[in-house]
Amino acid sequence: MKIDNDYKLKYYSPVFTSCGRDVYGTVGQLMHRNDTSLFRMDLGNWDKFAEYIGEKFKNVQKANIYSLSSSAGDEVYSLIMKLIEKYGENNSKKFFPIIASDYDSKIIKMAKEGFLPMYEGDDTLINRNTNGKFNEYFEVIDYIPECIKDMDIFFDFIAKVKPILRDKVVFKIADATEECKLVEPNNSIVMARNFWPYLKDENKRIQLANDLYKTLDKNSAVVIGKFDDNSGAFTSKNLYDAGFRCNPENYYIYEKSAIPLTDMYYFK
Ligand SMILES: C[S@@+](CC[C@H](N)C(=O)[O-])C[C@H]1O[C@@H](n2cnc3c(N)ncnc32)[C@H](O)[C@@H]1O
Repeated sequence: MKIDNDYKLKYYSPVFTSCGRDVYGTVGQLMHRNDTSLFRMDLGNWDKFAEYIGEKFKNVQKANIYSLSSSAGDEVYSLIMKLIEKYGENNSKKFFPIIASDYDSKIIKMAKEGFLPMYEGDDTLINRNTNGKFNEYFEVIDYIPECIKDMDIFFDFIAKVKPILRDKVVFKIADATEECKLVEPNNSIVMARNFWPYLKDENKRIQLANDLYKTLDKNSAVVIGKFDDNSGAFTSKNLYDAGFRCNPENYYIYEKSAIPLTDMYYFK
């Protein structure tokens, strides 16, 4: 099937994320959204994020990176591209494979098969972030893969992810509330971004923050997103109460070892 104009008109929604999809339950209730984007802005400067990881783990042989709510993989691909650009493929080997999980089996099937829905302008965005290497990392395809046909997913075009990126991620279906207990305690970055409000029970969100604190050692970190605090989910507060402190240079990064800016923290 070609991605023709009719298809685009039916599915186009100018939300300017790379992958947009609403998932409803059996009685029509909104369960979650798979919305994600390449170099998602709420993280701030992705160069700085890659530098933070490089600096934090410069003296270790192996670092572990997880995404507990990976959706289509935009975030992990963004990070891999930045790590390769910054440290070279060889020197960044210790960060891979990234373990990317999501409880949505359809989105993980698509990611496992190496397809990534994109919006117009994503190629430019990637080129600007990688010194013009869009074609080294992705190939635009002109058909709609089977795994995407039965998903109401928004996109302008679909890219096949080339092995240089795809081979550096292991995608798996997993619930974050369980997966968080399986992460390596030492030298780990756990991206748990823009999904906490989908845990509708406050106790589950508190439990997740506590489980992450219990599992991770002090040289590891948790990274959240803007949606996690903007929606009444109190993720920063729950992480703070569990014992984490935000990194003064990036308020979305939570560490055990970071020095709090002040004890007059605004949640107190
Ligand atoms: C809004 S997207 C965010 C994707 C990505 N982390 C980002 O920030 O761009 C939320 C994702 O979290 C997933 N999700 C929601 N609850 C989850 C849970 N309990 N365990 C794992 N994934 C979950 C959804 O399937 C969806 O793909």
